[in-house]
Amino acid sequence: MQRQSRQSAGQQVQNFPDGDWDRVWIGADIATMTAGAEPYGSIKGAALAVKGDRIAWIGEAGAARDRAAARGVPVQEVGGLWMTPGLIDCHTHLIFGGDRVAEFEQRLCGVSYEEIARAGGGIQSTVRATRGATHESLRASAAVRARRLMSEGVTTIEVKSGYGLELATEKRLLEVARGLADELPVSIKTTYLGLHALPPEFRADRARFVSEVSGPWLDTLAAAGLVDAVDAFCETIAFSLAETEQFLRAAESLGLPAHVHAGQLSDMGGAELAARHGALSADHLEYVSREGALALAAAGTVAVLLPGAYYTLRQKQPPPVALLREAGVPIAVATDCNPGTSPCTSILLALNMACTLFGLTPEEALSGATRQAARALGLRDEAGTLEVGKRADFALWQIERPAELCYGLGANPCVGVVHGGKMRRQNFSDAETPMVRGVRV
Ligand code: NIG
Ligand code: FE
Repeated sequence: MQRQSRQSAGQQVQNFPDGDWDRVWIGADIATMTAGAEPYGSIKGAALAVKGDRIAWIGEAGAARDRAAARGVPVQEVGGLWMTPGLIDCHTHLIFGGDRVAEFEQRLCGVSYEEIARAGGGIQSTVRATRGATHESLRASAAVRARRLMSEGVTTIEVKSGYGLELATEKRLLEVARGLADELPVSIKTTYLGLHALPPEFRADRARFVSEVSGPWLDTLAAAGLVDAVDAFCETIAFSLAETEQFLRAAESLGLPAHVHAGQLSDMGGAELAARHGALSADHLEYVSREGALALAAAGTVAVLLPGAYYTLRQKQPPPVALLREAGVPIAVATDCNPGTSPCTSILLALNMACTLFGLTPEEALSGATRQAARALGLRDEAGTLEVGKRADFALWQIERPAELCYGLGANPCVGVVHGGKMRRQNFSDAETPMVRGVRV
């Protein structure tokens, strides 16, 4: 890809008219993650100022220092660190009861995910545990997972319901999700995953379940202000194209955007369906045709790749990254944090896997958890890049260059996070570990 010159990166350098800042971070190398500029949209030795919860200014360190001194603006010296947008985990099933450790053991003995699901395990076993769990235990366990993600620079998390499959429990899951944003310094986007699996009480009447989900249940949850988007698991072991479409239509009539779990285990045309309905994202996509990829590109639907699930299920066919690239589909990367197929609370590990297992470049992977992830959540104008006017969500890293965020296995070089302009305490990182510059294991 032809890159624009250094001057173009300077288009980032804008000012809020009054230049009145609450705080300025000076000296970092900034990976703005804007498209088409330097690799990673980098500006070396730069400064970023915040006013309220917004980015007010990005520019040269010297100019920032002068202005801060003249106006008594508090300065945070961050020379030697890299700054990126706060990372965005755009696909999680963060809230659930119980665990699926026994299924992990079963799968290692050769039983497949589909066989476990058909025998009433899999999603159904998590549904049983979730229905039996209290609001407090769901909240507490989800908060632990959220904090793990946050410790790696995550400032926005998408959270799906889908382990209730009855109105009261789905509502509880979405309420817990909303509550996380009050409890923790993180932004939450909620997704009503109405069609995840058919609950046992509807086994004799699938059509009625789909109608309940698409009708009164969706209406109730949306009216309660709990739904930012909807999602459906479109798959042979889950819901058909027609069933998925019925749900997407209902969401459309309420003005709600959609995600679709598509092409995880087979190609049913879920990507084409997602594109036809202008879905924000089609997720998984190990199985997607050329037509599917072209349809996603034309609709601007983001392909959310989930290498944690691919890895955990030990799948053999990775998503066709070359095809997606060639078609011009925006590509995001997420953890898919869930107890069954991706017990993963590390966005950095997901980035590493996206590179190592799927062949993304580190820049594509990091874009996938910033700019493209924002797009997958309908947050294009709000988050995902460091630009004036966007929410002041960013992370500081003790790294030599951005690709290092995709390189490590188990390291956490995050040394600071700012969410909505406010600094967050980091308790879990390498911050206290003295680092020999240039040497990292
Ligand atoms: O994204 N594919 C469907 N949903 C989840 C798995 C849920 C589960 O197995 O509990 C996924 O992989
Ligand atoms: Fe998922």
